[in-house]
Amino acid sequence: MDNYFLTKPPYGNIKASSSFLRFVNKGLRFLKLGYNIAPIDTSADMNTVEQRINYFHLLGSVLNSEIQGDVIELGCFTGQCAMLFQKAIQLHQSDKTLHLYDSFEVKFKEKGDIQAFLIDNFKKAQLDLPVLHKGYFQDTIPGQLPEQIAFAHIDCGFGGDKMQHKDIVLYCLNSIYPRMTKGSVCILMDYYDPEMNGIGIDINPGVKLACDEFLKDKPEKINGLYGNQYFHAYFRKA
Ligand SMILES: C[S@@+](CC[C@H](N)C(=O)[O-])C[C@H]1O[C@@H](n2cnc3c(N)ncnc32)[C@H](O)[C@@H]1O
Repeated sequence: MDNYFLTKPPYGNIKASSSFLRFVNKGLRFLKLGYNIAPIDTSADMNTVEQRINYFHLLGSVLNSEIQGDVIELGCFTGQCAMLFQKAIQLHQSDKTLHLYDSFEVKFKEKGDIQAFLIDNFKKAQLDLPVLHKGYFQDTIPGQLPEQIAFAHIDCGFGGDKMQHKDIVLYCLNSIYPRMTKGSVCILMDYYDPEMNGIGIDINPGVKLACDEFLKDKPEKINGLYGNQYFHAYFRKA
């Protein structure tokens, strides 16, 4: 199973590097910062190709084994990650269902009905439609979660107050953890640890605050994932 689809629309759009970016990356290599800037990926600005590769393999590890449960995403927006998840589910001919949770109220630069955008994106990509759970997490989860969860992506940051965001992520973790089955995976978008990741921009510091607090009395450990200029991490349920 190849994963070149991750670089092409609608999953990504990796273009050849411009001479300007090659120049900037030469500078970054000189400074030994350990990462470079990829060409702007216009169709997938919510994640990097490195992150998509991480999603593909971690979800693949769950789909290839006997991990029980469905696939969920808390914070799906227009479905960039969600389409990748559904594509992986179908490539693996898995019978797992994708459940998506979002208020669909945050617009970023998009205008109009975000939920309709997501459905349209899935249709254009000729993917089976996911189960949508519209509303604030506080209203939809844990009640509307599947009984068992094999793979979860928490991606509910949109700037704003870090303590408020921490509370939301903590609420998500507390809701999903009891339903995560042994060996299941939870990926946390924007988990940034300067010690692990080096120099970077911590766009949603509430994620690490919530995750560290949540895991401190649990057997699971957080594992960083290389995501180039974006950051994320995961834990696997013991
Ligand atoms: C960064 S976006 C998600 C990006 C998405 N994973 C993708 O691949 O395009 C964050 C999303 O979280 C949602 N969100 C944040 N807090 C929420 C809450 N308390 N309840 C429901 N949705 C929430 C926002 O509506 C927004 O769509």
